[in-house]
Amino acid sequence: MSKIPVWFDADTGVDDATALLLANKLDEKLQIVGISCVAGNVPVEQVTENTLRICDLMKKQYPVFKGAGKPWFKEYHDACYFHGNNGIGDAVLPKESYEAGKEKAWDALHEAALRYEGQLEVIAVGPLTNIATAIVKYPDLNKLIKRVLIMGGAASGGNVTPAAEFNIYEDPHAAQTLFMSGIPVVMCGLEVTMQAYLTSEEIDEIHGHHSSVTDFYYACTRISHRASQRLGLPGLCVHDACPVLFAAYPELFKGEEAGVYVETQSELTLGKTVTDLYSDFQFPEKNTFIVTDIDREKFAKVMIETLTSYRD
Ligand code: BDR
Ligand code: CA
Repeated sequence: MSKIPVWFDADTGVDDATALLLANKLDEKLQIVGISCVAGNVPVEQVTENTLRICDLMKKQYPVFKGAGKPWFKEYHDACYFHGNNGIGDAVLPKESYEAGKEKAWDALHEAALRYEGQLEVIAVGPLTNIATAIVKYPDLNKLIKRVLIMGGAASGGNVTPAAEFNIYEDPHAAQTLFMSGIPVVMCGLEVTMQAYLTSEEIDEIHGHHSSVTDFYYACTRISHRASQRLGLPGLCVHDACPVLFAAYPELFKGEEAGVYVETQSELTLGKTVTDLYSDFQFPEKNTFIVTDIDREKFAKVMIETLTSYRD
């Protein structure tokens, strides 16, 4: 089977870094053709630095492009409390050996979409500012991209407010632009990503392999793992790994087609992904495949196998 050409858009924090390590190793199924950086967990300059350094760590100099430094209409807020001051749990990586491309993220994404003639799949694991900017700037983009797989949203409650999940809350207008674009969306929201966790024992097992990648993974996850334990969670959620795994192994997941709209007006529910998944009232169009479940045991197995397959 031919590989899926994939564009990866991230706000490289802890789970974005893990998702990138995963996507790179799933190279029998996925071919990363470019990576764009967006402000989210940390400012976009830091996201870009983290991304370049992780590419170096993987010994793959993927083309990396800087994108939006803030949401369209809202003020920017970071998530350093969870991801550490540098976004990667304050883990230290060697200075990057190469630079980000000169083009803006949305221009580079459009060029890649043209090159892959309708086959390109976008995996977006941060606020959707870059993707929405590309959609608005290039009206042909919705015919050129096969689908967008996101980590974002929640059919029920949120994590950053009672109603909203972080990536959608950060830039709700951008998210709504994607959902309304006509591009098929696969939404890995909190229903599924909260099931996609690694336990302390599983993290220790990964660390036991002692390569530069597994040492980095361990150092990178300390702050967020402790924060998750304080919250009483059963492990460290690897939210952003879900759309990557869905692209490569959809059989690990369950979900359903539904309509999704994003609340952009109300203060109380700003950034909520409103869906008819559980409702008698049906929206006129089912624009999204909402992923609801993952086989957690298989998920953990793939994560451990993949991360420990890196060798120095
Ligand atoms: C999402 O928010 C970010 O902090 C994580 O990287 C993930 O993409 C989870 O709500
Ligand atoms: Ca993210």
